[in-house]
Amino acid sequence: MKAIQLKAPASLDNLALVDLPDPAAPGPGEIAVRLRASSLNYHDYAVVKGMIPTAENRIPMSDGAGEVTAVGEGVSDFAVGDLVVSTFFPDWLDGVPPEGGFKRVPGDGIDGYAVEQAVGPATSWTRAPKGFSAAEAATLTCAGLTAWRALFADGCVKPGDTVLVQGTGGVSIFALQFAKAAGATVIATSSSNDKLERLKEMGADHLINYKEVEAWGPKVLELTGGKGVDCVVEIGGPGTLDQSMMATRIGGHVALIGVLTGFAGPVQTALLMAKNLRVQGLTVGSRAQQLDMIAAIEANGIRPVLDKHFPLADLADAFRHQESGQHFGKIIVDI
Ligand SMILES: NC(=O)c1ccc[n+]([C@@H]2O[C@H](COP(=O)([O-])OP(=O)(O)OC[C@H]3O[C@@H](n4cnc5c(N)ncnc54)[C@H](OP(=O)(O)O)[C@@H]3O)[C@@H](O)[C@H]2O)c1
Repeated sequence: MKAIQLKAPASLDNLALVDLPDPAAPGPGEIAVRLRASSLNYHDYAVVKGMIPTAENRIPMSDGAGEVTAVGEGVSDFAVGDLVVSTFFPDWLDGVPPEGGFKRVPGDGIDGYAVEQAVGPATSWTRAPKGFSAAEAATLTCAGLTAWRALFADGCVKPGDTVLVQGTGGVSIFALQFAKAAGATVIATSSSNDKLERLKEMGADHLINYKEVEAWGPKVLELTGGKGVDCVVEIGGPGTLDQSMMATRIGGHVALIGVLTGFAGPVQTALLMAKNLRVQGLTVGSRAQQLDMIAAIEANGIRPVLDKHFPLADLADAFRHQESGQHFGKIIVDI
């Protein structure tokens, strides 16, 4: 079978297309999947660029979707031919997040889904939403579930609330779609006026170009009559957190998700305290939350926003496209 491996030192030029032996037949409790699609996340980019260290020859990509080709003894959830989607934390089925960080995350601590075939525990997969293509399903593992958990599992938003989403990457576009489906008002930012137009077409209520309006926190206050938003889906990190806290209402919620501006930085602790804010760090979500999200996607007819498709062999080019910042929503790898 074909796969992509990350050779040392990690870089986009060291993503190699290789031939590997096909995996063994599934054992008890396992399924075999013929992968058909994956999608790019910033986390995958950080791994293949060497920002997150990983083992040599690691198969990258946390997201995978494809059809079941065989089921092992005792598997009753899936049948041959089902379209399934991988989970980000294969061992986190429900409840509180597991210890061990990213040690068992596909494409990081273990091999991921830039590969034609995979065999593993059935619990490392869920069903895909009815009617979804493999490409659509492959967007859910990381970006979709992160947005879902931030807004609903962590109790950030309810109908009538106002939500701030930042930029037009995978997590933020899902957050816009989920927040609108839940009856929230959405304020969306982007560095591009063309992308802001697309956000408007998708239902964003207020738009801010964060390059043109650097102090967008006060602008958000102005748009909300001085009150601030109920919830921020915070994907920037240290470079955006101050503005996010400024933009949030007294007692509001900041879902701290991203590291796009770095991994550490000063925090205005006095502002955090004075505004009685809840800043909740989160890492993706559990299998049970993924199933909840899939039910909500079906109930609301939500379809992921797909950007460009790349063949598996051109994974490096897919990452170069992500690096250029031109994308809107999810970049797809067809396998
Ligand atoms: N904690 C978790 O569980 C979790 C899960 C998923 C993702 N993440 C993190 O969330 C972030 C986004 O991930 P992703 O996969 O959605 O990325 P992505 O698809 O690559 O999207 C990146 C987009 O973010 C926007 N952006 C970049 N810098 C920005 C800034 N300073 N302020 C506002 N927007 C900015 C840009 O949108 P415009 O072109 O419109 O400006 C860019 O296209 C990453 O840091 C990632 O590591 C965390």
